[in-house]
Amino acid sequence: MNAIIFDLDGVICFTDHYHFLAWKQIADSIGVYFDEQVNDRLRGVSRMDSLDIILEKSKIEYSLEEKRILAEEKNKRYVQLLNHISTADLSDEVKDVLQELCKRGYKLAIGSSSKNTKYILKQIGLEHYFDAVSDGTMIKKSKPDPEVFLKAAEMLQERPESCLVVEDALAGVEAAWRGGFFSAGMGEAATHKHVTFPIKRLSDLLIIMKE
Ligand code: BG6
Ligand code: MG
Repeated sequence: MNAIIFDLDGVICFTDHYHFLAWKQIADSIGVYFDEQVNDRLRGVSRMDSLDIILEKSKIEYSLEEKRILAEEKNKRYVQLLNHISTADLSDEVKDVLQELCKRGYKLAIGSSSKNTKYILKQIGLEHYFDAVSDGTMIKKSKPDPEVFLKAAEMLQERPESCLVVEDALAGVEAAWRGGFFSAGMGEAATHKHVTFPIKRLSDLLIIMKE
């Protein structure tokens, strides 16, 4: 394997709770029930697809324009919350693993559904760290479609079978598998039937990836 493509949210930094708070505010404003369990289903899924999942519980049918406004509101709130993250939110484990993998000669990339990827990377001080950044602003179809990872591999000039995708979401492992990538899955992603390496923590990559 020559390259490693990391998902961002839930792998490199932990924005889950901020997504939850922002969506909760939107759901409350339109009287739709929303809890951590619904939030779990949004992991890895694009903003608009997330909104569709939330609206499954709504009795009202929303037009595309109304949905666009709700998604924009959610993002405004989310970006306000993101202002609180900083280089202090980059864990020592993540920092050490990235540095060691880089030292071992692997190309490193990001493959994230988030349109806020560049902003988050800047906030945690990794803006210029990766050889390629493929994100939600560059794709038409979000995970479980493999587009975001195929784009990352293309930017790295690598074939999918030479890349490992690191994910915390079931949709992400599914996308990796559909695209012909190897995968390492943490948390619920470790339970996907097609995950190549179920891992407990990011530092387990240092056992999988040879020196
Ligand atoms: C993914 C998150 O990384 O990005 C999802 O796991 C989120 O929960 C998606 O919906 C899109 O994020 P954004 O920042 O473009 O709204
Ligand atoms: Mg994730």
